[in-house]
Amino acid sequence: MKVLIVGSGGREHAIAASVAKSPKVDKIYCAPGNAGIGQIAECVPIGAMEFDKIVSFAKEQAIDLTIVGMDDPLVGGLVDEMEAAGLRVFGPRKNAAILEGSKAFSKDLMKKYNIPTAAYENFDDPQAALAYLETVKMPVVLKADGLALGKGVLICQSLEEAREGVRTIMEDKKFGAAGNRMVIEEFMTGREVSVLSFVDGRTIRIMSSAQDHKRAQDGDRGLNTGGMGTFSPSPFYTEEVDAFCQEHIYQATVDAMAAEGRPFHGVIFFGLMLTQDGPRVLEYNARFGDPEAQVVLPRMKNDIIEVVEACIDGTLDQIDLQFEDNAAVCVVLASEGYPVSYEKGFLINGLERFDGSDEYYCFHAGTKQTEQGIVTNGGRVLGVTAKGKDLKEARANAYEATKWISFDNKYMRNDIGKAIDEA
Ligand code: AMP
Ligand code: GLY
Repeated sequence: MKVLIVGSGGREHAIAASVAKSPKVDKIYCAPGNAGIGQIAECVPIGAMEFDKIVSFAKEQAIDLTIVGMDDPLVGGLVDEMEAAGLRVFGPRKNAAILEGSKAFSKDLMKKYNIPTAAYENFDDPQAALAYLETVKMPVVLKADGLALGKGVLICQSLEEAREGVRTIMEDKKFGAAGNRMVIEEFMTGREVSVLSFVDGRTIRIMSSAQDHKRAQDGDRGLNTGGMGTFSPSPFYTEEVDAFCQEHIYQATVDAMAAEGRPFHGVIFFGLMLTQDGPRVLEYNARFGDPEAQVVLPRMKNDIIEVVEACIDGTLDQIDLQFEDNAAVCVVLASEGYPVSYEKGFLINGLERFDGSDEYYCFHAGTKQTEQGIVTNGGRVLGVTAKGKDLKEARANAYEATKWISFDNKYMRNDIGKAIDEA
C-alpha cells in the first residue's frame, strides 16, 4: 500500500520509520518532510496546512492511508476534508481535535466527567480574569486557550506577574487568536509523565510511558522548548499510577468525547502530573508527542499500520499492543541559541554512522538536503535515539551516539534521563 505522512519534524520521521517496517507498505510519501525522512520516503513540497493540495495529491497518487502527525492540520480539520473526498486517514476529526485545540474545552470536559485535573476557571474577558486573580493563591498558571506552539502557558509567582500575564495573553495577544480566551488554573507540583494512546472512538490502548525535558538547559533551567529529550518507559509510571489512570482518566476521556458526539479516532497524548494526591491531567494533545514518539515508537512491537487501521475501523479491541521489554533515550541536538535565535545552514557530519539498525536512530527535525550535503535548518536539528536493556544503558548509548554527529553550533542538554537515577 501507499502511505502519506503529513508533517516535517522528528515525530514524523519516527512515524515514517515505523511505517517503513510494515510489510504491508510499498511506498511512503511525506508532505513536506525533511532530509532524513527523504531517505525512507518521497518528500513532496506541500505544506501541512495546504489542505486542497494534500487532498489532490492523495487522490492523484491513489494513497491508501494518510497519517497526520501535526496538531495544526488536525485542529484545522484536515481529516474531515480528506474523509469528505473519500480518502482513508488516521487522526481525529476537527470536532475531536478540539481536545487539544481548546484548553477551555478540555478543562470543561474534565470537570463535567470528573476527570482529575487542576482547579480552574475560563475567561474571555480580561477584566473578569484580573478580578479573579485577586481571589486565588500564587503561584498560578495562565494558559492561552488555543494552539501556541507549546508556548502559551505562563507560570506566575506573584499577583503582579499574573496581572501582566493576563495582559500579555488577552490584550497584547502575544499568542495571537489563541489568547481570545484563557484558562487560569491552580499550580500543581509533581513529576510529569507523557502517556500516548491509540483510540478508535470507543476502545483505548495505552503505549509505553515516557518523560520529556521541556527546558532548554541542564537542571530544568532556561526557557521552555519543544522538548530537548525523552526517555521511555518512565520508572515513575508505576502499576499503581497506571491502575488509577485506567480507572479515572483514560477510558473516561474516550467515553466523554463519545458522549459529547465527538468520537475520537487517533492518538490521545495524556500529559500527566503525578501529584501527592494522585495523577492529574495537565493537558491533552491529539497526536503523538515530539520527542516522545522518538522513544516510544521504536519500542513498539506491533505493525503500526495494523494498529492505525484498527483505530480508523473501530476494531482496536482486537489489537494486543506490545512493547519491547527494554528502554530508549532520545537526546535532541539543537542549534546554539534555540529557542530564541540561532543560525542555520551548517553542514552535518556523521549521519552515516546510523546505518538503519534497530538499536540506534537519528531522527531529523530541522534539516535540509543541499548540494553540499545535509545542513541544519531549524532550532531542533536531530533527535538521537538509542535503546538499551534498561534506562541507564539506553542513556549511555544515546550519549555515545551524540558524539558521532558534528555540526557548527551543536547544542544539547547533558542530563537527559538524569531523573532515572532517583527512581
Ligand atoms: P501544557 O501545555 O498545558 O502541558 O503546559 C506546559 C507545561 O506547563 C507543562 O508541561 C507543565 O510543566 C506546566 N504546567 C501546566 N499546567 C500546570 C499546572 N497546573 N501546574 C504546574 N505546572 C503546569
Ligand atoms: N513533547 C510535548 C509535546 O509533543 O507536546
